Parts: sequence; C-alpha cells; structure tokens
Amino acid sequence: MRRALPAPVAMPSDLYGRPRPDLFLGLVSALMNGHMAAVRVLRRSTPTGQRVERSLAVVVSGRSVEAHDDNVVALTFTRPSGGILPPWRPGAHIDLTLPSGIRRQYSLCGDPADTDRYRIAVRRIPDGGGGSIEIHDAVHLGTELVVSEPRNAFAFAVPGYGSPARHLHFVAGGIGITPILPMLRLADSLGISWSMVYTGRSTDSLPFVPDVLAFGNKVTIRTDDVDGLPTTDDLLTGIGPAPAIYACGPAPMIRTLKIGADTLGDAEFHYERFSAPPIVDGTPFTVELARSGQVLDVPADVSALEAITSVLPDTTYSCRQGFCRTCIVGVLSGTPDHRDAALTDVERADHMLICVSRSQGERLVLDL
Ligand code: FES
Repeated sequence: MRRALPAPVAMPSDLYGRPRPDLFLGLVSALMNGHMAAVRVLRRSTPTGQRVERSLAVVVSGRSVEAHDDNVVALTFTRPSGGILPPWRPGAHIDLTLPSGIRRQYSLCGDPADTDRYRIAVRRIPDGGGGSIEIHDAVHLGTELVVSEPRNAFAFAVPGYGSPARHLHFVAGGIGITPILPMLRLADSLGISWSMVYTGRSTDSLPFVPDVLAFGNKVTIRTDDVDGLPTTDDLLTGIGPAPAIYACGPAPMIRTLKIGADTLGDAEFHYERFSAPPIVDGTPFTVELARSGQVLDVPADVSALEAITSVLPDTTYSCRQGFCRTCIVGVLSGTPDHRDAALTDVERADHMLICVSRSQGERLVLDL
C-alpha cells in the first residue's frame, strides 16, 4: 500500500545530532509536520508527564540477505491481518522486542510511502549483546514480534523545507546505511543537490550496494581493504557549498567527519553513531542497588549501566545513548545528573536513564 507523501518538514537536530529543545521551534515543527504528528506527541504523555509507549503486533512478512558476507539480514514487518502502520519519516527507528525479551532499536530503511510495512536491516554482531544473533538465528518468515511506534532521534530536514542548507552530503559506514537509505531516496525524488560516501571494511560487508549504486555518480563507495582507512577528505568527497551532512556509522568515522565539518564553517552536521557516546566531564560516584544492598563504584570514565551490568548482566538496555528509555530505573535516593534526551521533567524527579546519566553527588540508591 503506497501513498504519495508531501515534502517532509523536520526541525533540524543540533550540531551534535540531538533534537533541539526549543519549545517554540518544536511546536512549529509539529504543526508543519501535520496534525497526526501533533496527536502522536500528545498521546505519549499523560497529564502527569509520564510517557506512554504504544506497542504494535507485527509479523515477519519478508526476509532477505543483503550483504555478500551473509551477515546482514533485512526483515519486513506487516500487521498480522494487514493494514496501515503508524507513519514515519527518514531517520526514524523502531524498538523491536525479540522472543527472548531483548529490546533493541533499529532504523527503518524502507520507503515511508509503503504505509503497510516497516523494513529494518541487522548486521550479525558475534560479540554484541545477543540481539543481532537472535534476529539472525531465531527470527524467520512468520515470526510474530512486538515493535514500538516509530520515533525519530535523527531528524532529516530537507533544504527549503526546514533547513537553510543548499546541498546534502551523506556518509554511511556499513550498516549505518539503514537510516541514510530513505534520506537518499527522498533527496533524489525532490531533485535536491546531494552526494554520498559509502564506506566499510570491504565491498562484501556492505549491505544494499545495488540500491546505492542505482543513484549513479552521486555516490562514492570506498572500502578499507582497497583504499585504506578514510581520511576527512575522503569522507567529504563530492560535498557541495552550504552543506548539511548526515552521517551514520562507527565512532571513529563520526569523529573524523566532525573534524572536517568543523573546518567548513557553514555546515550542518547531523549524525547517529553505533556505540555509546564518550563520557564527558565524568566524576566517580557509587551506586547502591536497593534490592540486594550491593554498592558499586562507578569510575569517571565508566557509565552506571556498565558498572551495573557487571553484577546484573540481565539489566535491560538498548541504544546506550539516552534516547530509547529502555534502561530507565527508579531513583530512591540521591540526585541524578540527567544527560538523556528522553525523560520528562516529572520522570526525572525519581527516575534516570543509567546508560548516560550520572550522579550530582557521591551516591545514588537505585531501585534495582
Ligand atoms: S539504553 Fe537507550 S536510553 Fe539507555
């Protein structure tokens, strides 16, 4: 089921890829994005400020291998009895709850105009947290799963529709192509000036190469085994004047690219990375786990999540970047140093996201 979508209007995220907190801009953006967007925002908050997540039952209706090394699988989800799914825009992700209960975020890589399906792609990570292995080994055609409504922590602002940029430059590292693909399709369909660098270890490891090559000479594919590790200049190949850069990939690639973006002066830089952000200005503190009485030291360069999973390995988490809310924990005593972009003020009174938030004092007592 396809429908034509209007040109998107998304408030650009800030220099560090985070949504801008400006209330007025947020309201304008919501209104410009249409009535449904505003309705969905309202539905996620109760009068007390607690967010309400809405889950959807879906079934795997498509499954394909998308990289020559066989380590990337794409899944298509539809409603069990068909029908329209909540809309989304390029850069959005869904939370996927696996049969084991593991919850993970995956970017939507299909076409928003296909209103009855979501598509994701997952690289197998042998030494990861187990989510990708479960998807590869235990999720098949017909498997029933639960997903969240799409959310967008990597908003895409099209030049002329919410962004003053005149050129879009995309950089994808390996499986980082997933949020970028819908952006490419949209930019191309709107006739916007754009370029792209697609990079990875080897061509065999890159998913969706035929889809990307179909865009012709706007795309540069370069791989480490042939070209060496990319430099800033490599990652900016083809960039035009007054650019907005959208990048998704591993932390070293994002770091290299940011150095280049900083030298351009007038560039917007939006990114999504695979791993937890580095801890900035961290100070050590202790965490008491109220249910067991265990007291853990959290060093300045370690997250509370990392310290806690060392003794409670089943602690739930997903993005490790403070936006998915999976790691929310009740705070019984102490004052958190909130560093997330997801909790409401009401929630912050007695909860925290332990993947990024820390402590203002020497000790926190958590409901764990
Ligand atoms: S793991 Fe996503 S907010 Fe903490």
